[in-house]
Amino acid sequence: MVSFWWRPLGIVLGLAVLSLLLSGQFGTGSGWKLFVGGLGLYLFYHLRQLQRMAQWLARPERSPVTSDGVWGDVLYRLDKLLRLRQGAQQKAAADLEQMLEATRNLPDGVVILDESNRIQWLNLAAERFLGVSQERDLGQFIPYLVRQGRFVEWLNREDYAQTLAMDSPVSREKHLSLQLVPLPRLQKMLLARDVTDLARVDAMRRDFVANVSHELRTPITVIVGFLEAFDDMPDPSPAEFRKHIPLMREQSDRIRRLVDDLLTLARLESEPETKDETVDIPALARRLASEAEAMSQGRHRVTLNLESQSRLIGNSQELYSALANLVSNAVRYTPAGGHISLAWSATENGGMGFKVSDTGEGIEPQHIPRLTERFYRVDRGRSRASGGTGLGLAIVKHVLQRHQSKLRVESTVGKGSTFTAVFPAERVIPGKRPDEQAIGE
Ligand SMILES: Nc1ncnc2c1ncn2[C@@H]1O[C@H](COP(=O)(O)OP(=O)(O)O)[C@@H](O)[C@H]1O
Ligand SMILES: [Mg+2]
Repeated sequence: MVSFWWRPLGIVLGLAVLSLLLSGQFGTGSGWKLFVGGLGLYLFYHLRQLQRMAQWLARPERSPVTSDGVWGDVLYRLDKLLRLRQGAQQKAAADLEQMLEATRNLPDGVVILDESNRIQWLNLAAERFLGVSQERDLGQFIPYLVRQGRFVEWLNREDYAQTLAMDSPVSREKHLSLQLVPLPRLQKMLLARDVTDLARVDAMRRDFVANVSHELRTPITVIVGFLEAFDDMPDPSPAEFRKHIPLMREQSDRIRRLVDDLLTLARLESEPETKDETVDIPALARRLASEAEAMSQGRHRVTLNLESQSRLIGNSQELYSALANLVSNAVRYTPAGGHISLAWSATENGGMGFKVSDTGEGIEPQHIPRLTERFYRVDRGRSRASGGTGLGLAIVKHVLQRHQSKLRVESTVGKGSTFTAVFPAERVIPGKRPDEQAIGE
């Protein structure tokens, strides 16, 4: 900084003193000549430096010219400033590129539109959801590409608070939720979100509520019908009332069973994991076999084949509820005289299977994949007549899933069905085969 002012001033003053001395010695003319000549040279030096600087500034990416004195100082500062700015610019460009890259791969579709709805930029999800293409459609009017009337009308309304729900122009299976976001310079951002899964869950929830209401309405109507009839009787006799109790009880049982199953499902859904313990499946199987006999009331032959004494790691209550459902189905869907057999045996890869076979009516193949859906029944009337809720196999599937296990269904119409709960090796606590047990053990 010091050299900045004092050095040029010193040079000019020195020149002036030298000229004065010279004019004293050789006359004023020589003094002036020296002064003007010296100033001229000094000016030429500065102009030359200025020119070099101008040349460098035209292409500052080259290494800067070196100089001393005032110019050295100026050039050093200028160079530092330029490099600082260059660094900031490079960082801003890298940040922008990173942002664009992230937006390009966003799971939501993003399209930037100008004030007349021409496409400025779009990301990969937008290509997939809206069928527009970064390569082909830049600069195109989006209403010409996404032609659904509702979309065009919504876009023109420019109501930033209102979303639009529509099917994807690419596939009617895909449901989208669109939103507009204002951007600077009259541009706007069109956001497209894939809400297919949400829509599916919503539809399932609606179906479920409709099904539950429908299932409950019939028994409630029956009971209310009787109550109203009695209420209308001027002098109802106890005998008259008693006559209808069995039917009312049957309908109340139906409601209770439905509510019980709904609660079981709700509990399974609300508790993310099973509380594991050791479950003595052979003991559980004996209990289920005697329950099957009780349910059958002598109409079927019930057999139990315990090929293994292995136990399971799992939740005994949940497993009881699942396996009891399989057993009660076998009893209910097998005509009198049939045979129901339960078996506990090893499956492939060290797993175990709980098998419930019947010689019942069997199930046509097209129904099998849907049996575990809530309220799905092959024969609604038959299921109801035998006290079914249509939720049993949904509970079975849920319980088995929580035990990393699977339900296997094999069936032949007219011959019978076999439902097997297949448990993975990780849940098996191996036990001896019964014939390996020492007597008296
Ligand atoms: N052992 C079986 N034999 C024949 N059909 C069966 C058997 N088990 C289940 N099904 C069929 O699967 C449907 C769904 O079973 P489930 O979910 O337990 O409901 P439900 O309460 O009707 O028994 C039943 O309505 C029935 O049509
Ligand atoms: Mg059932």
